[in-house]
Amino acid sequence: MTWVVVPAAGRGARFGGEVPKQYLDLLGRPLIEHTLRGLLAHPSISGVVVALSPNDPHWPGWRALESKPVLTCMGGGERADSVLAGLLALPDSVAKDAWVLVHDAARPCIKSMDLSRLFAALKSDPVGALLAAPVRDTVKRSDADGRVEATIPRGSLWRALTPQAFRRDSLVRALEAAQRAGETVTDEAMAMERLGLKPLLVEGSEDNLKVTTPADLAVAESILRRMGDGRA
Ligand code: CTP
Ligand code: MG
Repeated sequence: MTWVVVPAAGRGARFGGEVPKQYLDLLGRPLIEHTLRGLLAHPSISGVVVALSPNDPHWPGWRALESKPVLTCMGGGERADSVLAGLLALPDSVAKDAWVLVHDAARPCIKSMDLSRLFAALKSDPVGALLAAPVRDTVKRSDADGRVEATIPRGSLWRALTPQAFRRDSLVRALEAAQRAGETVTDEAMAMERLGLKPLLVEGSEDNLKVTTPADLAVAESILRRMGDGRA
């Protein structure tokens, strides 16, 4: 059985507005409720730790959802700080070498099938894995004037999604090492890569989008409507 750390301490600067995006209404519920229920409904997941901003007035105060525990802790200034705080707040029953998943609060459309695919990949993996989507568009690099400097072959390019799964202790050590080095890592895989490790890419659904701008909210709504309650 596996625990999930959910960083939810962001301000949503790119989204804008007063209420952070993870608490916006999505089909009559706070966005983060879809995220947490989507995770906790999976039979291999036993609980979540949610990293919140200090004195978060929007957190509904759940202690359990889907009959599984919901713990909280205080997040930090960067996403990686919030993830590290969440890992340190895991219950003692989570073994040092247990797999722990990290999933963005801002990804409400996580599907059961994607979680199962990630768990299946972990069975035979020594390092850890992340959901990712192959890049479909042609990719350009710009120069300082906003002109195309180069076309980057997309064959080996992926967009990193979440959940990302690593062993509890290894991930703590990797995030602490990045912190000590003063390097901001934008996902867990990047912290592991710094140490020379090569996380496994597991192809995940394009539906598992991160709500970043207001336009994404409408897309997430239509995806959730299509998924219904089954989340297959
Ligand atoms: N996050 C966090 N702690 C931070 C920054 C981000 O827990 N200091 C969380 C966000 O709440 C979100 C996830 O990390 O669920 C992914 O981050 P992102 O989409 O970048 O959210 P924000 O940082 O809130 O948005 P922005 O970058 O536009 O400000
Ligand atoms: Mg951010």
